[in-house]
Amino acid sequence: MFVPFPTVHDQIGAEGIARVVAAFYRRVAEDPLLRPMYPEDDLGPAERRLRLFLIQFFGGPSVYSDERGHPRLRLRHSPFRIDQAARDVWVRHMLAAVDECAVPEPAAEIMRHYFERTATGLINRVSVE
Ligand code: HEM
Repeated sequence: MFVPFPTVHDQIGAEGIARVVAAFYRRVAEDPLLRPMYPEDDLGPAERRLRLFLIQFFGGPSVYSDERGHPRLRLRHSPFRIDQAARDVWVRHMLAAVDECAVPEPAAEIMRHYFERTATGLINRVSVE
C-alpha cells in the first residue's frame, strides 16, 4: 500500500481524525437515507469502528485490525444497500465533516480523495430510478 508521507495521522493526529468522524456521525444521525442503514440503535460503536479504521488507514496505530482483523470493507458492506445515491450522501456528509473540522492541507485533500474513491468502490447495488 502506498502511504503518503507525512501521513494524515502525522498531520492531524488521532484526535483530528476522531473529530472528523464525530462530525460525520452527527450528520448520519440526522440523515433519512443513511440512519436506517445502521443496524444498531446506538451509533457509538459504529463511530468507534470507523474512527479506529481511519486512524489505522491514515498511518496511526493498528488497533482496528487488532480488534477486527482484516478490514475486508467490500465484504463488510455487502449487507447494506449502497447504490450511487447512498454513496453520494455518505461522501457529502464526510466532505462536510472535513470542512467543518477545518482539516489543514494536504491532509484534507488526501482524505477527500480517499473517501470519494473508496466509497465509489463500495457501491454494491444498481440504483433503481
Ligand atoms: C470511504 C468509504 C467508507 C469507509 C472507509 C467505510 C468504513 C467502514 C468501517 C471500517 C466499518 C466497520 C466495519 C467493521 O469493523 O465491522 C463500516 C461499517 C458500516 N458502513 Fe462504511 N465505510 C465507507 C463507506 C460507506 C458507505 C458509502 C456506506 C453507505 C452508504 C457505509 C455504510 C456502513 C454501514 C451501514 C456500516 C455498519 C455500521 C457498523 O459498523 O455497525 N459505509 N464502514
